Amino acid sequence: MTEAIFDKVAADYDDWYVTEIGNVADQVERALAQRMFQPSGSHVLEVGCGTGQHTVWLVQAGYDLTAVDISGEMMAKARTRIAGVGGRVQWWQADIAEILDQLGKFYGIFSMTAFEFVPQPEQVLARLYECLEPGGCLLIGMIAGESPWSETYQEAARQNPASVFAHAKLYTEQEIRRWRVGGRLELGRALFFPPSVATAAEALALEEKATDVAGFLVAKWVKA
Ligand SMILES: C[S@@+](CC[C@H](N)C(=O)[O-])C[C@H]1O[C@@H](n2cnc3c(N)ncnc32)[C@H](O)[C@@H]1O
Repeated sequence: MTEAIFDKVAADYDDWYVTEIGNVADQVERALAQRMFQPSGSHVLEVGCGTGQHTVWLVQAGYDLTAVDISGEMMAKARTRIAGVGGRVQWWQADIAEILDQLGKFYGIFSMTAFEFVPQPEQVLARLYECLEPGGCLLIGMIAGESPWSETYQEAARQNPASVFAHAKLYTEQEIRRWRVGGRLELGRALFFPPSVATAAEALALEEKATDVAGFLVAKWVKA
């Protein structure tokens, strides 16, 4: 089983979301993913739910949700968060690669910044695609390879080989387009400002221009 590397960072994981730049990065990433996620029914799977940052939205949007994560510590935080909003989720602590035969069928599968950490993502995604009902969609959001954001994370991994970033593999749009997952692929881009941007206002101005390299990709495969 893949190591639950996020156990050791669960306590501080949410700190990034309340920083000025983390908050605006999260806003643009989630806006894109939420716009593109169009499941064909209510039964939905979230892969790599983490501390529940996106689980809350999925529950509040009314989906009948199963949430998987390999990290017990991250999932414990998600459970607390969802209890706080009175939501109900089927929790499943597991390595997604090890439960593919047991999953059943879903109208939508949603995953944010988790497949960077899943070995052989193309193979796992192709198996998840098979779990979709007709018209269903499989959506993943990922930090883009060869972008200012991937450079920052790779530098963090070089500085600290014990960091979770040392376990991440970041893919370019061209690499994702070559994956054989199934169905029709749609790609969305966001995060057009670099991690070094000084203020949220500057970040949002660059986001609106969308002329720099995208730091975040959303890939969606739709089942015919
Ligand atoms: C960067 S966090 C993202 C969490 C959440 N989706 C978010 O956007 O805040 C990546 C999550 O994926 C989980 N993960 C990594 N590999 C996994 C695997 N093979 N199976 C299930 N979960 C996995 C980690 O434990 C972690 O909680």
